[in-house]
Amino acid sequence: MLEKDSLILGIESSCDETSAAIVKNGRDCLSNIIYSQIEIHQPYGGVVPEVASRNHIKMIDVVVEKALVGSGVMLKDIDAIAVTYGPGLIGSLLVGLSYAKAVAYSIEKPLIGVNHIDGHICANYINNDYVKPPFITLVASGGHTNIIFVKDYGSYEVMGQTRDDAAGEAFDKISRSLGLGYPGGPAIDQAAKIGNSCFVDFPRAYLEEDSYDFSFSGLKSAVLNYLNTCKMKEIPIEVNHIAASFQAAVIDVLANKTMKAALARGMSSICLSGGVARNSLLRTRLETMASHKGLVVHFPEPDLCSDNAAMIASAGYYQYMKGQYSSFELNAVANLKI
Ligand code: KG4
Ligand code: ZN
Repeated sequence: MLEKDSLILGIESSCDETSAAIVKNGRDCLSNIIYSQIEIHQPYGGVVPEVASRNHIKMIDVVVEKALVGSGVMLKDIDAIAVTYGPGLIGSLLVGLSYAKAVAYSIEKPLIGVNHIDGHICANYINNDYVKPPFITLVASGGHTNIIFVKDYGSYEVMGQTRDDAAGEAFDKISRSLGLGYPGGPAIDQAAKIGNSCFVDFPRAYLEEDSYDFSFSGLKSAVLNYLNTCKMKEIPIEVNHIAASFQAAVIDVLANKTMKAALARGMSSICLSGGVARNSLLRTRLETMASHKGLVVHFPEPDLCSDNAAMIASAGYYQYMKGQYSSFELNAVANLKI
């Protein structure tokens, strides 16, 4: 451990949240300012990239200023600037990255480029002292669905990934078809609470016997076909029941595969990461399954599951500790892999 506390300024702008945070020693969140553009994109049913970049430009200075004021930390006392450089929307990423470069240059402190997925995983360390590698994590967001074996800080083995849609993307698309709006995850989660999950037995794609990969396109088509049939036969659409049946199909696969991966690697803990980790059924299902097997499940508080800069500052801290700095040549990479 360094003798002195390390203060990292994190910056996140990969999609539709403009966020800045100050995190001490990778775990102690002093401030985490998140400006969400959800309401701006809602009328379009999804994120409009050009509109997102323009709003990041408007808000980036504001969120950084608020993060500094909220933490009581002076810019000159920051030890490094961590910023998401991918994956994400290229224009949006460039706003945060250019801003971070300018700050790092002006205060002569290291720039640390962070992979957004690494950030989601590190959200589990924030405001918490006991989550430590190794563990299995399910990263499920709007753009990604991965089962990852976290061997050590920043050392990852991707065991499984989606072959088509991400879990959050499936929630968003089905929500739109059910008329529940954007973002779909919270809307379906809510509707499902008063729905019957056995109403329709939608398919669960487990793929090959030993595969940790996911595929949600078959499920998505099955729900859309079901809705079309209802419309053709003029059968009323039971939105809550269909939402519950769809959610059950997604969560069954996510929970079973994550549990299987943890047992296969002999892990005693599972962490959830990404926006879909806010899902109430996923949380309770995994907790129940894990407690039967003597495993512990951890999930970050809701604001830390969705996109935020504290998770980027935390991931940046572990790179800072290893001296893994980025050059000012660093470019944004829209399809950056973990
Ligand atoms: O991690 P995130 O904030 O952004 C990306 O990196 O994509 O994840 C956003 C995704 C959206 O698809 C949203 O519908 C989903 O997370 N989500 C949920 C819930 N809350 C957000 N999905 C299921 N249940 C929820 N409660
Ligand atoms: Zn994300």
